[in-house]
Amino acid sequence: MSLITEINGLPYYQFDPNNQDEFKQISKLISLHLSEPYSIYVYWYFLNNWPQYCYTVKDPDTLKIIGVIISKIEPHRNVRMRGYIGMLVIEQQYRKKGIASNLVKLTIENMKSKDDVDEIMLETEVINQGALNLYESFGFMRTKRLYRYYLNTHDAYRLILPITDKARTRIAFLPQLA
Ligand SMILES: CC(C)(COP(=O)(O)OP(=O)(O)OC[C@H]1O[C@@H](n2cnc3c(N)ncnc32)[C@H](O)[C@@H]1OP(=O)(O)O)[C@@H](O)C(=O)NCCC(=O)NCCS
Repeated sequence: MSLITEINGLPYYQFDPNNQDEFKQISKLISLHLSEPYSIYVYWYFLNNWPQYCYTVKDPDTLKIIGVIISKIEPHRNVRMRGYIGMLVIEQQYRKKGIASNLVKLTIENMKSKDDVDEIMLETEVINQGALNLYESFGFMRTKRLYRYYLNTHDAYRLILPITDKARTRIAFLPQLA
């Protein structure tokens, strides 16, 4: 893993796809805290294709991963570049210290500066007030309610953070990406 930054004494890293142990720690942390059960292929899909968009935070003493964010970027309908935040989890005893906010900020900044994304999207359960507050504080807006989106039957909100003018223009009026 390569160290990106240190905030309040905690080191933030970019994931290294060759590190099997950290892959296991990440998938375990997520499966413990997210309601949706993801298969190992989902983790590999994200982590192998977009390792530059997986960031972790470690406890400086134990060097165990205590927080992770996993995202991807892809063209949307071949007219906009869209970032997508797939998973975000912070270990229970480290919550409410701004760690998730730092991971989201890092993701948004890199998507903007390195890949010129036009918008960033994600889904979260309608009952996940913590996540909704967190994302809405960055300017994400609720654009859709997805009925029984999750396997636990809960509905989801789709949230979008518009970044460029393209995000505010109807798809029909946008030129195709090269
Ligand atoms: C949601 C989660 C990632 C937040 O992590 P965190 O590190 O505690 O979040 P932060 O400390 O950066 O909080 C930033 C803001 O989010 C909001 N927030 C976070 N947790 C909250 C909670 N439990 N209740 C209400 N608001 C909350 C607040 O607005 C907070 O700002 P504030 O501290 O100024 O009040 C964490 O609770 C978690 O891992 N939950 C389980 C997994 C999950 O739900 N992931 C999101 C799926 S989309």
